[in-house]
Amino acid sequence: MNIILLGATGSIGSMTLDLIRENNINVIGLSLGRDIDKSLSIVKEFKPKYICVRKDDDKAKFESLCDNIYVGDLGLEKLSEIPCDLVINALAGSIGLLPTVKAINAKNDIALANKESLVMAGDIIMKLAKKNNVNIYPIDSEHSAIWQAIKGEDIKAINKVYITASGGAFRDKKREELENVTVDDALKHPNWSMGKKITIDCATMMNKGLEIIEAHHLFNIPYSKITPILHKESKVHALVEFSDSTLKAIISNPDMKEPILYALNRGNRSNYDNKIKLSTLHFKKVQFKRFPLVKYAIDAGKKGGIMPTVLTASNEAAVNLFLDGKISFLDIEKIVINELSNTKNFKPTLEDIIKVDKEIRERILGGRLWQ
Ligand SMILES: NC(=O)c1ccc[n+]([C@@H]2O[C@H](COP(=O)([O-])OP(=O)(O)OC[C@H]3O[C@@H](n4cnc5c(N)ncnc54)[C@H](OP(=O)(O)O)[C@@H]3O)[C@@H](O)[C@H]2O)c1
Repeated sequence: MNIILLGATGSIGSMTLDLIRENNINVIGLSLGRDIDKSLSIVKEFKPKYICVRKDDDKAKFESLCDNIYVGDLGLEKLSEIPCDLVINALAGSIGLLPTVKAINAKNDIALANKESLVMAGDIIMKLAKKNNVNIYPIDSEHSAIWQAIKGEDIKAINKVYITASGGAFRDKKREELENVTVDDALKHPNWSMGKKITIDCATMMNKGLEIIEAHHLFNIPYSKITPILHKESKVHALVEFSDSTLKAIISNPDMKEPILYALNRGNRSNYDNKIKLSTLHFKKVQFKRFPLVKYAIDAGKKGGIMPTVLTASNEAAVNLFLDGKISFLDIEKIVINELSNTKNFKPTLEDIIKVDKEIRERILGGRLWQ
């Protein structure tokens, strides 16, 4: 199998490289990151035929190691179009959208970690994938769990899908206790070790909202049937209830390597040793008053059109400002809610989605809204 991995230097990217190493998979293309030493050591080890570096200035450092070097956003798109068996999109944020689209147009199957692609343009992407006969394999643990639970089932027999949420770093705090929390506090996820953006999205619970939209598109399940549920152990990743009241749960340790491997194997089982010790599991209803962004995200998903793009663009920019120490934790939701409330919805083309995403991120990051 020949694969292309986008986001090789990130959290999902690094775990994917471990699995590629352990399973003797052939990497033909890699996109690298800002950490040049780390990127160089990856290229030296995996010797891909094609790479994409982030900046023009980086190119020279890789020229003795690789003959085909792409650069920047356009480079990511070109890399995704190279014919291969599987493109793994482990980019963080809206930068992942166009590479997803380009990979589908090139008829490359995709293992998708980049949830923002589907949130922004789920209708367009799923239609395009169908038209090009391309498979999209989810990497997110919750979506991998849904995929596993519904395999062989009649979609019409699904009554309810519960997507579990750990509750993030502040799950035991009341809203009034969130006033002065710091970036370091927010990055302390109780169960998972992940990239910074998704870890903050877990603390605000925006991540669960994004995942509900993603699940809606991936599995064509109506929003009315998808419910978030708090589950502090992060061992049950999703539960699916069927028409005969049977509930299937997919249970494993919080270890992203399991869903990544399942996607790399296109939904087939392989060998991986991380057996779970069964213990007491807790479930609790999500209170939207405590985690308002989940509700705003679901509403944006239901409205569709440009609203999910507004949701994810404003969130991405606000999370960046928070990580930079420019705004407080609670400002993230203020920024997102403000953008959603001031947007008139419309049915966008892909070009509209890219334009609106860029406009919103630039405006918010320019600091004109929240100083
Ligand atoms: N981490 C998890 O456990 C997890 C679980 C479920 C879903 N996901 C989803 O998977 C995706 C990746 O998450 P992650 O946690 O792995 O993120 P991450 O650790 O921040 O890694 C993101 C990767 O994308 C690259 N990247 C970001 N912006 C780029 C740009 N403008 N141009 C080129 N490359 C760029 C990064 O390069 P640098 O090295 O330069 O930063 C890095 O290689 C996200 O959509 C996330 O929601 C992650």
